[in-house]
Amino acid sequence: MGKVETWPGRGSFVLAAIGSAIGLGNVWRFPFIAYKYGGGAFILVYLVSLFIIGIPILILEFALGYHFKSSAPGALRRISSRWEWLGWFALLAGFGVVSYYVVVMGWAANYFVYSANLAWGENTESFFFNKVLNLSDSIFSIGSIRLNILLGLIVCWVWILLSIWKGPLTVGRVVYVTVTVPWLILIVFVIRGVTLPGAMEGLKYYLTPNFAQLRNPELWHAAFSQIFFTLTIGFGVMIAYAAFLPPKSDIVNNALLIALADALTAFIAGIAVFATLGYHAYMVGKPVSEVAKGGPSLAFVVYPMIINSLPGARLCGLLFFAMLLTLAVDSAFSLVEAISAGVTERFGWRRWKVNVGIMIVGILVGLIYTTSAGLYWLDVVDHFVTHLGLFSVALLQCIAAGYFYSLRTLRVSINEYSDIKLGKSWEYIIKYLVPPVSIFLLVCSLRKDIISPYGGYPRLATFLGGWLPIFLFVIISIVLARIAQKRDAGGFTP
Ligand code: PHE
Repeated sequence: MGKVETWPGRGSFVLAAIGSAIGLGNVWRFPFIAYKYGGGAFILVYLVSLFIIGIPILILEFALGYHFKSSAPGALRRISSRWEWLGWFALLAGFGVVSYYVVVMGWAANYFVYSANLAWGENTESFFFNKVLNLSDSIFSIGSIRLNILLGLIVCWVWILLSIWKGPLTVGRVVYVTVTVPWLILIVFVIRGVTLPGAMEGLKYYLTPNFAQLRNPELWHAAFSQIFFTLTIGFGVMIAYAAFLPPKSDIVNNALLIALADALTAFIAGIAVFATLGYHAYMVGKPVSEVAKGGPSLAFVVYPMIINSLPGARLCGLLFFAMLLTLAVDSAFSLVEAISAGVTERFGWRRWKVNVGIMIVGILVGLIYTTSAGLYWLDVVDHFVTHLGLFSVALLQCIAAGYFYSLRTLRVSINEYSDIKLGKSWEYIIKYLVPPVSIFLLVCSLRKDIISPYGGYPRLATFLGGWLPIFLFVIISIVLARIAQKRDAGGFTP
């Protein structure tokens, strides 16, 4: 097994973990999920989920990495060799996310260029669907590859690889910039957004809680999945990052800091988006709930609108899309880091080879999203990989740690150097609260997805983009775990 690397300095772990957490999930995904699930109704459930599920599981992932000093497959193997597959499954689910995440980065890269002359014009929606995506009218009419998007995809992948070329621990420095600058830009957007006419209607839609919706399991499932996505839970990333922590690290403080910084960023991005939606609704004379499609296109329709309304629009556009890209790149590379940590640890392969391999597969898989039906495929894969993939990883990790290992040992191990001490209630949450609640939600929504395919897509499409990849991920994970364990038994020394 390779030597254990350690973060240089205290701040770099926190920054790298914040860098992984804050990304398109906050600025692109959160607003559209919140919009899709009714704004205020969603926010309430989201906040509750953050505290009862998000933070405890984030602490669990940190604890696993820190305690076992191993990447996800290695840490889970230490619980029991029968659990190693789950670590691989997490990495594969994470890869499923990254496969389209970098495509969204590719869109942003295109928009960065469009900002130079505000190419999107007044009708930002039609520009995105017709000019950028050349969207077809159904998921199986894939048309041809959009070269501009493919180019964006390749450029972003190369950038991701270059950022971590010198090793995972150089990450610390990059994120100083990628985490702080975006905040300033978002604040400008918020100030402009809330001063637009009609903004208040948008904010009302965003912030008025709807208590009746608390009983809707679909909403909880979407909220949990978004929490996992945004905190990078269930990707195996936080486990790998915590494995690099030096002894005597304060896990609980860090987890709280990361989760709160992440939630705040999403919340602020939401204000900018919903204020602008309010403005748009005012201009076209429709209610906020009807002015946009609540899907992955939302950000690319709404942010250009707000940019149009700013003084110095071109510069703001350039800054904004540069920000989106810098926010995204450290999330994307954290996953590449996590995969290569797992593969180098368990198979002894060279890191750079693994990284290049991930990039090549990432670009190949990404091709489907660069076609005219790409947005539809992205929507399907995103739904399944988050609602089923990340969700199952989070759930099964709780079961593995709660029932096949001692949560008490993990708790003692993190409490030793934490200012805030974790109480026994953390163990109860992981062991008794998360599993039944998640299983209930999973059953409800699986039932729904089986009865009527997600998003009204043809059944074959949800099979190919959803059920099948998840099934393959499970098989591949089991095979990888087997091979790695055979290798252990054979006494190979990498
Ligand atoms: N947490 C990231 C975000 O919110 C999601 C992510 C992490 C995506 C790691 C890819 C890889 O954007």
